[in-house]
Amino acid sequence: KDISIVGAPFSGGQPQGGVEHGPLRLVEFGLNKQLEELGYKVDYEANHDLESLKPAHDPVFQNLKNPKFVSAVTKKLAGQIEERAKQNKFVLTLGGDHSVALATVSGIFAAYPDACLIWVDAHADINTPEATESGNIHGCPLSFLTGLSTSHPDFAWVKPVLKTGRLAYIGLRDVDDEEKKILKDNNIKALSMHHVDKWGIGKCVDICLDHINPNRDLPIHLSFDVDALDPSVAPSTGTPVRGGLSFREGHYICESLAETGLLVAVDIMEVNPALESEESVFSTVQVGCSLARCCFGESLL
Ligand code: ARG
Ligand code: MN
Ligand code: MN
Ligand code: MN
Repeated sequence: KDISIVGAPFSGGQPQGGVEHGPLRLVEFGLNKQLEELGYKVDYEANHDLESLKPAHDPVFQNLKNPKFVSAVTKKLAGQIEERAKQNKFVLTLGGDHSVALATVSGIFAAYPDACLIWVDAHADINTPEATESGNIHGCPLSFLTGLSTSHPDFAWVKPVLKTGRLAYIGLRDVDDEEKKILKDNNIKALSMHHVDKWGIGKCVDICLDHINPNRDLPIHLSFDVDALDPSVAPSTGTPVRGGLSFREGHYICESLAETGLLVAVDIMEVNPALESEESVFSTVQVGCSLARCCFGESLL
């Protein structure tokens, strides 16, 4: 399989500037070349023009901030991602904030309707417009993608492509009360850091796959928010939470999914090079690149 890297230099799903510079920093660090060195043919779409989709007037609607901007950008990226996936390319999307998952999951599941999704994150990102306390859409994509939110007109284009039985989380530790209720009511496989401590990362990945991909025959999409990692490992991100995945635990997830041979898409999200020191940015960008390489089998023997 060839790799298509899709840059998503976008920050409209949350209030902090800088996360729109994440993709370029990962590419400048040499990601494309590193993947070529693993033996893949790599193409890259930078999407430098996303800012031109910003409407002059985009007031809060049904609690959501920048709804028209987020909608326009993610709809455009969803089309690109679907096209590349249908050309049988492995799609690697570089964020950008996690609202961009509206695009990646819509695009990938249009090409692979029976895919499953592993969401690695400190947060559940499944708030509904009614429930969100922040109004930031990066905390909401999964409510649209699972069909739990249907009433917001700007996201009427988002189809409920993701069945809740095909979604599993690893790394959770900052989940809003309403989100906890959604996870419970819908019987979503949600492993927190407590489960990682209790069972170890190896068993956690197996438990997730047993639930969403029991016969190990369905395509897998991995959406990796770097804030799943402990802030000592990935400090340059907008909503860091203490007590996260270690460097190895994060890499183990990528390696074990690569090992299945079923991965079709990976998102590396929420790298914000405007936050913290130059040293912090270096570690965060470096770990983002090495997670991506592990998804393509770098460390498999
Ligand atoms: N639950 C909080 C919210 O909805 C935080 C979400 C953080 N999401 C993220 N993709 N970093 O605002
Ligand atoms: Mn900027
Ligand atoms: Mn997060
Ligand atoms: Mn997230």
